[in-house]
Amino acid sequence: MANVAVVVGASSNLGYQVLKQLGSAYKGKIYYTTEDESTGYSIYENLKEYSHLEYFRVDLTYTKSIINFRHHIQDLDERIDLLINVTDHVPEKQLSSVDKVRRILAVNFYGYINFGKLVYPLLTRNARVVNVSGPAGLLATIENEAIRKRISDPKLTEDELVAVLQDFEEAVKRGIQKTEGWGHSMHAVSKVALAAVTFLQHREWSDKGVIINCVNPGNVSSREHRKSTKAFEEGAKTILYLALEAPLTVKGNFVWSNYNVIEWNSDPFLEVTTV
Ligand SMILES: NC(=O)c1ccc[n+]([C@@H]2O[C@H](COP(=O)([O-])OP(=O)(O)OC[C@H]3O[C@@H](n4cnc5c(N)ncnc54)[C@H](OP(=O)(O)O)[C@@H]3O)[C@@H](O)[C@H]2O)c1
Repeated sequence: MANVAVVVGASSNLGYQVLKQLGSAYKGKIYYTTEDESTGYSIYENLKEYSHLEYFRVDLTYTKSIINFRHHIQDLDERIDLLINVTDHVPEKQLSSVDKVRRILAVNFYGYINFGKLVYPLLTRNARVVNVSGPAGLLATIENEAIRKRISDPKLTEDELVAVLQDFEEAVKRGIQKTEGWGHSMHAVSKVALAAVTFLQHREWSDKGVIINCVNPGNVSSREHRKSTKAFEEGAKTILYLALEAPLTVKGNFVWSNYNVIEWNSDPFLEVTTV
């Protein structure tokens, strides 16, 4: 049985840098996935020097594509000892709020939960999982304290988390998400939800030795400012640190771009608290 690494959602500049650095650091086979097939193959062309990279198309909103990926790995009798999730969905500006929230959550929340259910059973004992978040994923981006309490309950179940996000969708439908205190960005709520999923998965998988964390890759510039690769290289280094080097005591944590474990409840607009 061979061990492999997986990078999900590799077509962003950050994902590309992660693949490049992982290509040098990880000697086994590395699967990388994108939703868009042509981007996936062009990455393959650009990173030909790393002959141990293998492309697979996965759309997190399409269960069959996740199942195909799972079957592929199972058929080759492979197991995953490293999984990095870089996926993100930022919807087109012209969509209605209701369509935006549906699409964001379909990828960043429901899609990743589904991916975890189908693919995590292929993780090895002691595998590491890194979910890429950002400052938006800090709990304090949600203004309402009662909502923050619900989502950060250390005993929260998946059903309860889904119910929180359904309440959010309902608030968006009624146009009252800001007055209810969900904060100013639907995308940020999805990143908070991804952090909550990370901690939930940690609780579920830690007794099997699996180490799951989320990370803020730092000052990664936006889609409009993608000319400099420096920020992406640095962001990828933080991700790789967590994926390959961080002490085993770092688990079920939110890790900041300076490699420190921080409180999920830090205020993103003030200096973050390290623990
Ligand atoms: N940009 C920033 O300033 C910043 C700051 C801090 C943290 N981050 C985090 O860093 C990560 C990368 O950010 P980015 O801005 O570089 O991301 P991005 O360009 O939006 O790329 C996200 C990735 O997600 C994939 N994806 C989208 N929809 C998908 C779906 N339905 N199924 C499967 N994959 C899908 C995309 O693949 P396709 O292209 O094939 O659709 C792409 O590979 C994200 O998690 C983001 O939250 C970003």
